[in-house]
Amino acid sequence: MSPSTFLLILFTLCSFNLPTSAINFKLYQIVCGKISLIPVHMDVTKCLKALEDNPRIPLAKTYVELSELIVELALKNSTGVQGYLKILTKTNPSRAIKQCAIEDYTKIIQDYNSALTLVASSPQRAANIVADAQVHSFLCKTALLKEPKSPAYLFRLIDYVLFYCNIAYESISLIRVM
Ligand SMILES: *[C@@H]1O[C@H](CO)[C@@H](O)[C@H](O)[C@H]1NC(C)=O
Repeated sequence: MSPSTFLLILFTLCSFNLPTSAINFKLYQIVCGKISLIPVHMDVTKCLKALEDNPRIPLAKTYVELSELIVELALKNSTGVQGYLKILTKTNPSRAIKQCAIEDYTKIIQDYNSALTLVASSPQRAANIVADAQVHSFLCKTALLKEPKSPAYLFRLIDYVLFYCNIAYESISLIRVM
């Protein structure tokens, strides 16, 4: 099946809420299909590519397992971004970068860690905590926007929080016991 055929079928099934299990889609493909329908209109291809980064993700058998792997990926990503921001604070005196590196990303990482422990037992709480991580990324972004000399690539970097939050939220929402 070509990627465009795959996307077309996925879009159609998701748009009409038809059972995606009929075609044997992998769970992460269903999550990415749903992502394309939410108002932010995330790129399905980008979503699939990001998730395929972890070879265990395409093998996930339940949404609990998948959600945990996605939150782990988000955690790894924001830990990397925080490390980068911390290095920046050594050469850049910006207060906003300091706030992002020290306060906001510490909270984001704490949130992902808590969410990870709650996915299986309390998916609703895990989803709320993932949304909270998003709030902290907005706080970081707002601080950077107020500072006139914030480099543009920093905004792209912190938008990954939003990207992974949206995917994690969608995946957790598909856990049946909510
Ligand atoms: C974060 O995720 C994005 C999108 O998948 C990727 O391009 C970027 O390299 C990641 N950064 C880190 C530090 O993992």
